[in-house]
Amino acid sequence: MAFKHWPVVRDLRFAQKCGRYLRGARKRRPDLDWDEFRRIARHFKQDDMGSFPERGYLFQLASDTPENAQVVEVGSWMGASTCFLAGGLRGDRARVLAVDNFQGLSTCGEDTVWYNRHFQRLGARTTLEIFRENFAALGFTPRSEPVVSDSLAAAQALAARRGSIDLVFIDGDHAYAACKADIEAWAPFVKPGGVIAFHDFGSRADGVTRAIFEEIKAGRFAEIIGVAGTIIAFRM
Ligand SMILES: C[S@@+](CC[C@H](N)C(=O)[O-])C[C@H]1O[C@@H](n2cnc3c(N)ncnc32)[C@H](O)[C@@H]1O
Repeated sequence: MAFKHWPVVRDLRFAQKCGRYLRGARKRRPDLDWDEFRRIARHFKQDDMGSFPERGYLFQLASDTPENAQVVEVGSWMGASTCFLAGGLRGDRARVLAVDNFQGLSTCGEDTVWYNRHFQRLGARTTLEIFRENFAALGFTPRSEPVVSDSLAAAQALAARRGSIDLVFIDGDHAYAACKADIEAWAPFVKPGGVIAFHDFGSRADGVTRAIFEEIKAGRFAEIIGVAGTIIAFRM
């Protein structure tokens, strides 16, 4: 086992990095429940899908939604980003619809290699099972609705909910054509004044960057409201 994965080293690194992030976050947004953020971060301290600024920004975006907000996430994997979104929500009727095929299927070659490596380590367990375990462990089960489906098929099936979603977060297939199709399919779900956010803008996934950049130039979004790591968020 690599030195950085030793439990004691991992815990120390987590405490240092999370503490450093939280000192800044508490100053920037003293109104948010950063103890809740830390509780979720501690649960996911082995997760490698996002940085503290990115996870913190998702938590902030969800915290800024109105009470009983409805959120759609495209690409949930094992539910880490989903839990940071769920943790920021308020109200008994607040929900995150977590859309994922839960099979690591993607048209993006680099992603597929990465998912396959992870699936080998999971053995017989599925990402959907682990997603559910994570939600249960944090007490968020009532706030989640896993939608086990291809993204575009889910957008068709949920068409009645167009114009009713407060926050859409897209982190699914990172190929250019797939990201374009996701924007086309999911942007109409966001209510006027609601938010759409993307992971991997400006990352190695250059298809995502190109697709979003084209949509900015075409005037798809009303304004950019924030960037954190490779997350970029827009008001519709
Ligand atoms: C990068 S992972 C998501 C990571 C997660 N948002 C996080 O930060 O913890 C991308 C996920 O998108 C899913 N996915 C890829 N293409 C998809 C598609 N067309 N429809 C549904 N899910 C898809 C994959 O199965 C994978 O679980």
